[in-house]
Amino acid sequence: MRIILLGPPGSGKGTQGDLIAKKYGIPKISTGDLLREAVREKTPLGKKAESTMHKGDLVSDELVVQMVEERITGEDCRNGYVLDGFPRNIEQARLLDAMEKQPGEVVLDIRVSEKKLVDRLSSRRICARCGNIYNLLMKAPAEQGICDRCGEELLQRKDDMPDVVRERLKIYRKKTEPLVEYYQKKRNYHRIEGDGTVEEVFQRLSTVLEREGTGLAHREAVR
Ligand code: AP5
Repeated sequence: MRIILLGPPGSGKGTQGDLIAKKYGIPKISTGDLLREAVREKTPLGKKAESTMHKGDLVSDELVVQMVEERITGEDCRNGYVLDGFPRNIEQARLLDAMEKQPGEVVLDIRVSEKKLVDRLSSRRICARCGNIYNLLMKAPAEQGICDRCGEELLQRKDDMPDVVRERLKIYRKKTEPLVEYYQKKRNYHRIEGDGTVEEVFQRLSTVLEREGTGLAHREAVR
C-alpha cells in the first residue's frame, strides 16, 4: 500500500504523515526532509538543491525522482509507505507510476484556507535533529526553543519566511494542483478537510484509509 499526501505547503502533510506512519508501522518518506538533510550534510545533491529550495521553487525532477526511487526500494518499505511532498507535478507522478506499481494506492489531499496556511507556516518550528514539527500557536514545545523528543534546538525553516511562503503557494497552484485531476482520473483521490485540530484531521484521514482498506495492521494506538 502506498499512501500519497497531497496538499499545499503548511496543510499538515508532515504532521499527519507521522501519525499514519506510527499507526501502521510503515515509513514516512518526505522529499522535503530528505532534501533538507542533504543540504545540512552538504552532499552533492544538497549543494545542487539548496538555492532552489530557499527560493521556494521545486528542485529538478531528476534529482528528486532518483532519491525517491532509492528510498522506496528499502527493506522497510516492503509493506508500504507514506509519501509526503512527492509527487509534486505531473511528470513526477508519471515517473512514480513507472517506478513501482503498488497493489493499492490512496491519495489524500489535505485542504486548508490560504490565510491559515500562512499563519501556520510563520509559527512553525522544526527540530534540527529529529525533524519533530511544532507550532508556536498550536503545538508549542514544553520548553521554549527545545525539542520535547530529543532536547535539540528548534529552528525556523528559511523557506517559512513570508515572501518565500508566497512563492511556494504560487508554485503549488501552478505545478502541483494539476495532480488533483491526474489522481481523480485514477479514481484513488480523496479530498480531506484540513481545518480543525490535528486529531480531528487524523480522524478524517483514518476514516478514508479504513474504508479503502489499507491491508495494514495497526501497530500502535495513536494519541
Ligand atoms: P516540503 O518540505 O515538502 O514542504 P511543503 O510541501 O511546502 O510542505 P510543508 O512541509 O511546508 O508543510 P506540511 O504540509 O508538511 O505541513 P506541516 O505538517 O509541517 O518541501 C520543501 C521544499 O523542498 C520545496 O519547496 C522544494 O524546493 C523541495 N521539494 C520537496 N519535495 C519536492 C519534490 N517532490 N520535487 C521538487 N522539489 C521538492 O504543518 C505546518 C504547520 O502547521 C506546523 O507548525 C504544524 O505544527 C501546524 N499544523 C499542522 N496541522 C495543524 C492543524 N490541524 N491545526 C493547526 N496547526 C497545524
